[in-house]
Amino acid sequence: MELLNEGYEIICVDNCYNSSPDVLNRIEKITSKKVKFYHDDILDAAALKRIFSENKVDAVIHFAGLKAVGESVSIPLQYYHNNISGTLVLCQAMKDANVKNIVFSSSATVYGLPKSLPIQENFPLSATNPYGQTKLMIEQILQDLYVSDPGWSISILRYFNPVGAHKSGLIGEAPKGIPNNLMPYVTQVATGKLPQLKIFGNDYPTPDGTGVRDYIHVSDLASGHSAALKRVLSQTGIDVYNLGTGKGNSVLELLHAFEKASGRKIPYEFVPRRSGDIASCYADPTKAKKELHWETTRDLNEMCEDSWRWQSQSSGKTSD
Ligand code: UD1
Repeated sequence: MELLNEGYEIICVDNCYNSSPDVLNRIEKITSKKVKFYHDDILDAAALKRIFSENKVDAVIHFAGLKAVGESVSIPLQYYHNNISGTLVLCQAMKDANVKNIVFSSSATVYGLPKSLPIQENFPLSATNPYGQTKLMIEQILQDLYVSDPGWSISILRYFNPVGAHKSGLIGEAPKGIPNNLMPYVTQVATGKLPQLKIFGNDYPTPDGTGVRDYIHVSDLASGHSAALKRVLSQTGIDVYNLGTGKGNSVLELLHAFEKASGRKIPYEFVPRRSGDIASCYADPTKAKKELHWETTRDLNEMCEDSWRWQSQSSGKTSD
């Protein structure tokens, strides 16, 4: 929507594995603009060839990936196939169509256990699960692609913890099954769909003992993509950017902000730490501010208010 409002023409390619095509109707309702939609998979080379031949594409924003850490441990082959092979097929189709501008969704998960905080883009990288491995491997593939042909223009965006929803309450996150991530879990406790939140650990070396993360509003994340797109359209090169607020909030802080925003009590209990979790993680967003001229503008209260509006308006609907 950010890009539509800025006047770009958008083509959406989605296999709808984790989303619903109905989202497009809502986007049209909000923006009064049309999105051209292909219900296709990026693993399908023939489909991509057709899409690139039917349209004059200037740049690709590549979000197509499976993203659940726990699931990636159970079905690693699907994760590697979808995320890695999908990216290879996409990049080959782009190369064949001579489209060499790409913005890629990576994740702060590539920092593993950070050596210090806040996290800068040049910190050492590591992965502890197949999902994280796919992000790291794709970053490497894009680096190698750029070395092979400096005509490419590549922006790698490392997201911290995206939460929130569109202000309208029409578009938000609707995970299948029981949510793994904190915010969707909290919103489902607030509606009574889930009985209580389990807080994974209260003995971390953080101010209140619960895990600290850099929560970023999805609309700030969207404007980060618009900023990255402008950069890839205006110059060649490969760059990596943290997309975060630079501020860490604990699980309890988020929970209390959500209670305030929703006017609902969120019952919770402390349970042992979740394996693979780290104590604290937050970004140094200076590079994005300097080079993309982008920074976040929405605070934790706004993230909670928008998540709640979406959740309370969307019962029964599915979306992404
Ligand atoms: C997780 C993924 C990360 C991925 C990101 C976005 C793991 C280990 N990491 O990040 O790779 O990029 O999602 O999809 O899954 N928490 C609770 N109770 C809950 C859920 C979460 O206490 O029911 C706590 C966690 O311990 C953590 C914080 O809330 O301290 C945030 O958790 P979550 O939303 O799952 O995000 P991450 O683990 O940071």
